This record gives sequence, structure tokens and C-alpha cells, in this order.
Amino acid sequence: MERIVICPGSFDPITKGHEEIIRRAASLFDRVIVVVSANPEKNPRFSIEERAELIRRVCAQLPNVEVDQFSGLLVDYVAKSGASAIVKGLRAVSDFDYEFQMALTNKKLMPQAETIFLTSSSDSMYLSSSIVRQIAQFGGDISPFVPACILDTVKQRICTHCEE
Ligand code: PNS
Repeated sequence: MERIVICPGSFDPITKGHEEIIRRAASLFDRVIVVVSANPEKNPRFSIEERAELIRRVCAQLPNVEVDQFSGLLVDYVAKSGASAIVKGLRAVSDFDYEFQMALTNKKLMPQAETIFLTSSSDSMYLSSSIVRQIAQFGGDISPFVPACILDTVKQRICTHCEE
């Protein structure tokens, strides 16, 4: 049976930390579906289509990774896709409470869906999309944090006073 895992998130925008988790999930599962959340409680910098498109570019060389969008409950998406697990990256202790809460809630809503945590590498421990947005907004160098193939797009889209 094909082992499918869902890798959900806001990805606003995708970082090297996200990329690493997706790559590792792709080596563990037959199929990885990266799903971009249209969470109405957040006010993302990139539209959901833009975020999905950036992830597609980053994952273009990974044949068992596909990208989709969703709104609503994650477990509904999991059930619809036939996935058996949700994979999330865990950076630091600060992530734990929130991630634990989501994992337990999802388990309650859909007992057969497992949440698997992959600990981030030490390089990505401190990395987040919001930090990338902050640095880019003020014209700082985001190349250590963002995959090279989307670097220019992210810079141009976020930096309000950078030269073309
Ligand atoms: O990258 P993020 O912001 O940590 O991703 C959070 C996400 C999208 C995984 C989470 O907000 C989510 O699953 N949203 C869908 C709504 C839902 O299912 N809520 C109940 C479980 S807590």
C-alpha cells in the first residue's frame, strides 16, 4: 500500500528549514503532499497561490512531492487524500506546546492519523518565515534562509525599497 504523508503549513514563504523537512519526509514516504493552509486567522504576505507556486519551484526535483492548497480542517484533507500521517518540523522547545496541542487535537478528530515530528537540523533551529519576511522587508540578505531558486522572487515581492 502506498504510504502517503501530508506536510501542512502556512509557508509564508517556504524556507530552507521547510525544504529540509519536506526532503526528509520524501525519503521516508512514497508520496508527500505539501498543503498550504488558507488560514483566515492569519494575514499572509503571499497569496495562497503564490505560496504554492514557490513550493512547487523548490520541490521541482522531488518526484514524489506534490503541492496542494486547503481551507478547513486538516483532518478532512487527510481523510480525503488517503494519507496515513501528518509530518511537521519541530525546531525548539518553543514549538512544542503549539505542535503538541495540534497533534493531540488532530488525533482526537481522526484517531487513525498519526502526527510525526522531524526535529529540525541545528542550521534551521532558529529559522522561521516571519524572520525571513522581516529581514527581506528591510533589504537584508535572506540567501542563507531561503532556497536559491526563489530568492529573487521573495526579495522583490517583500522588499519595499529595494532596487529592481
Ligand atoms: O505553518 P503553520 O502556521 O504552523 O501551520 C499551521 C497549520 C496550517 C498546520 C494549522 O493551522 C492547521 O492545521 N490548520 C487547519 C485548521 C485545523 O485543522 N485546525 C484544527 C487542528 S489544531
